[in-house]
Amino acid sequence: MSTVAHNTNRQNSACPRFRNPFDLADDEAYQRWRDAKLAAYPETAAELMVEIADPANPTEAERAAITRLCRKANMAIYVSRQEYPDPERIRRDLLAFAGAFELRRIEGHRSAKDDGIVAIEMASDKHRKGYIPYSNRPLSWHTDGYYNAPEDRIRSFILHCCRSAEQGGENGLLDPEIAYIRLRDKNPELITALMHEGAMTIPANHEDNGKVRPESIGPVYTVDTRSGALQMRYTARGRHIEWRDDPGTREAVAFIASLLAGEEQRIFRHTLTPGQGVICNNVLHSRTGFDGGSSSSAASDRLLCRIRYLDPIAGTRHLDESFQQQL
Ligand SMILES: [Fe+2]
Repeated sequence: MSTVAHNTNRQNSACPRFRNPFDLADDEAYQRWRDAKLAAYPETAAELMVEIADPANPTEAERAAITRLCRKANMAIYVSRQEYPDPERIRRDLLAFAGAFELRRIEGHRSAKDDGIVAIEMASDKHRKGYIPYSNRPLSWHTDGYYNAPEDRIRSFILHCCRSAEQGGENGLLDPEIAYIRLRDKNPELITALMHEGAMTIPANHEDNGKVRPESIGPVYTVDTRSGALQMRYTARGRHIEWRDDPGTREAVAFIASLLAGEEQRIFRHTLTPGQGVICNNVLHSRTGFDGGSSSSAASDRLLCRIRYLDPIAGTRHLDESFQQQL
């Protein structure tokens, strides 16, 4: 058992009301949480949507609706009624919007501007050239920052659409807790394999600014000691990744791939339109190619703003009493 899981269990035993559903030894807590999780779970992306009049100042009702969805599904899609003809103006308002959910600690990212926001668009500058997110090619399933060190784990992000593509650019979204349920129901040993400290290794990367991003080795699933939340570190990419060489890991990785290939019914698919955005606890996500995505020379002015946070969305901590009472 990992140190992280051990600490969480100890915390729970001190306060028996807070049982950890991700403890493989506590099947009763898992079943209770699982049944509550799946009851009235959203079935379409439309059910994730919350209209907000002014992103810089969400009302209490708007904030509560987004928090409720994030507790349930770890994500919500907000729909701003405020128009932003100038994409630069949304940046300040997005930071204020995030603040309403106590999201403040932004990841330091080499492609971010001073405000910490990264423009996701076709780009050829030296920081972004050659990376798939900044092209119009499809982006395979992943959670953000899967190569980050544990202390820089991405717990949430906001992805806001300023300009959409004429064709394509659809996002797939899957709650990592749903994937966990499918895996554990199939065979709890698949979870054991994915919680192994050596489950997934991303080799070191020599970046073109001369820096070396060190090798990243760690589990796919962990339980955060501070929040009790399940966190997932995953990429579907086939190159520059080493999975632990054992039958349980191989079976788990193949099973996740089959879920993401379409066997999972709770995958949401949605193409963001201008003014819409995803706020989430770093859910699994993918993107289809757009505007001639098979040709690297085809231009598109699709523009999304992305902010990654080291904190989870407020009110979604599993260890909070209000969360437990909802189960
Ligand atoms: Fe991403």
